[in-house]
Amino acid sequence: MCGIVGYTGRRDAAPVLLGGLKRLEYRGYDSFGIATVGSAIEVYKKAGRIPDGDPGAVGLVGCTGIGHTRWATHGEPNEINAHPHMDCEGKIAVVHNGVIENYAELKRHLQERGHTFRSETDTEVIAHLIEEKYDGDLLAAVNAVLPLLQGSYAILVIAGDTQRIVAARDASPLVLGIGDDEVFAASDMTPLLEYTERVIFLEDGDVADLMPGRYTIYHGGLEVERPIELINWCFEDTRKGGFPHYMLKEIYEQPQSFYETIRAGIDEHVRRMVMEADEITLVACGTSYHTALVFKYLAESLCGIPVRVEMGSEFKYFTPPLRGLVIAVSQSGETADTIAALKMAKARNCPTLAITNMQGSTVTRIADETLLMRAGPEIGVAATKSYMAQLAALMEILNIRCDGEFDDALSHAHLAIGDVLLLDIQDAVDLCSKVEHVFFVGRGPFYPVAMEGALKMKEISYVHAEGYAAGELKHGPFALLTPETPVVAICTPGPTYGVMASNIKEIKARRAPVIAVGVAGDIELPEIVDIFIPIPNTHLLVQVLTASVVLQLLAYHTACALNRDVDKPRNLAKSVTVE
Ligand code: F6R
Repeated sequence: MCGIVGYTGRRDAAPVLLGGLKRLEYRGYDSFGIATVGSAIEVYKKAGRIPDGDPGAVGLVGCTGIGHTRWATHGEPNEINAHPHMDCEGKIAVVHNGVIENYAELKRHLQERGHTFRSETDTEVIAHLIEEKYDGDLLAAVNAVLPLLQGSYAILVIAGDTQRIVAARDASPLVLGIGDDEVFAASDMTPLLEYTERVIFLEDGDVADLMPGRYTIYHGGLEVERPIELINWCFEDTRKGGFPHYMLKEIYEQPQSFYETIRAGIDEHVRRMVMEADEITLVACGTSYHTALVFKYLAESLCGIPVRVEMGSEFKYFTPPLRGLVIAVSQSGETADTIAALKMAKARNCPTLAITNMQGSTVTRIADETLLMRAGPEIGVAATKSYMAQLAALMEILNIRCDGEFDDALSHAHLAIGDVLLLDIQDAVDLCSKVEHVFFVGRGPFYPVAMEGALKMKEISYVHAEGYAAGELKHGPFALLTPETPVVAICTPGPTYGVMASNIKEIKARRAPVIAVGVAGDIELPEIVDIFIPIPNTHLLVQVLTASVVLQLLAYHTACALNRDVDKPRNLAKSVTVE
């Protein structure tokens, strides 16, 4: 994980770097640091989050610099381990996102040659290796070092005697932003939005030499052209816009993220790919895994397409037999486990499709085709509007396979999503914020919705939560039911309504309080549960969406009631680029 940013141009680099790092904090936020080229390299590092207007950091002089916000892998999150890392003499500074797998061996070798290490990180070896090769030509020194590194990296390197940044990537993302007299580099495009809409997505193996207003990209030692692309996001989308948290803002943006993704439609290539698939395998992690499971339930029951859903983290080591279309679902497009699975599917000659929110991300480079979600930048660590946009993209695929049967439901769904934002769920929040455990249950597509509700609850409120298929609760978890263990049950009209109602009665008989999410107008359910939350009585597909929003709001308000750091929950990062 970790986020890196670089700037060379006419402005003071420090504020640009700090502002950029703030936008990248979702990638890791346990420590940060920047380095600029003044009369020599100046460095400022700190454990913890990036404060606003930190005078120590803003005071660094120079118009060229690099910065880093960290999610610790090697060494605990403290000031010493924070990037940038330097060589022995303080003449070279490096920021790095990724993992150098052979760093221990390289470090031993460098120590034998007299280098002094200050940190426990893998990254520091890069600075010392460059020191060995540097004779005034930074590009040549970096080029000489890269073949020695095993693992993954996006790096930015500066030297104290030159106004340039050398950037390189292999298996970690890196984007250049092209301004008039200035060049930016960053882990993703969010830090660039304020300054330019022109970006270049570097390829694995690329090395870029950046100077104020000039850049040259090399691959395999040869100069190459990479296309300049225009970003389809705007800077305003990255602001909180008056909301107390990004997460709440992003929950409220869901009618739009669903609508825009549906409106964008699906291009001919993807359409053909989807129509030709006689079997579909989806690979994903976390929340994206849950959207994939929702798709499985809907696609198998509504269109009869066999669908398999695999967790990215398991897939690489226990690869199932593969047939048909393989779809990687990833908001960031940079999740290491999902990328590894996608690469394996490619190696087995399966047609591959990436569903992602990130233009130019790694999955888009690997997959044969891409279906871009239109969620816009999602800053809160917990996925919300990207979940909604993933469901939009997957439901659109379903719709294509069912000859447009769901056109009407999908084109009006955003209205129902907007309606549930206004629901009063305070009683449910009061209940959940007083307990240590909450169960979430549902059947069919509402089972993964329940799993997602539980994931949201645990990740941002730290209340322990489990999502279960409603029928499974009696096969063990019933032992945990007490008056202090609320169960959130999603129970909407359809073939499982009766059996869900029976499950709820069984839960009530164990004296566990039940919060039911059902449809408006249901007269039976409110009688048997403790708290009833009515969603609009709409199409099944739309109920999946609205029930999900209710559970997001429940997690959000519970977390707020418990005073949690909603946008940056402990120990997490949004983009998980390590296995
Ligand atoms: C939870 C969450 C994570 C991500 C998971 C996969 O709120 O955001 O579980 O869904 O890390 O991330 P992507 O979709 O970027 O591959």
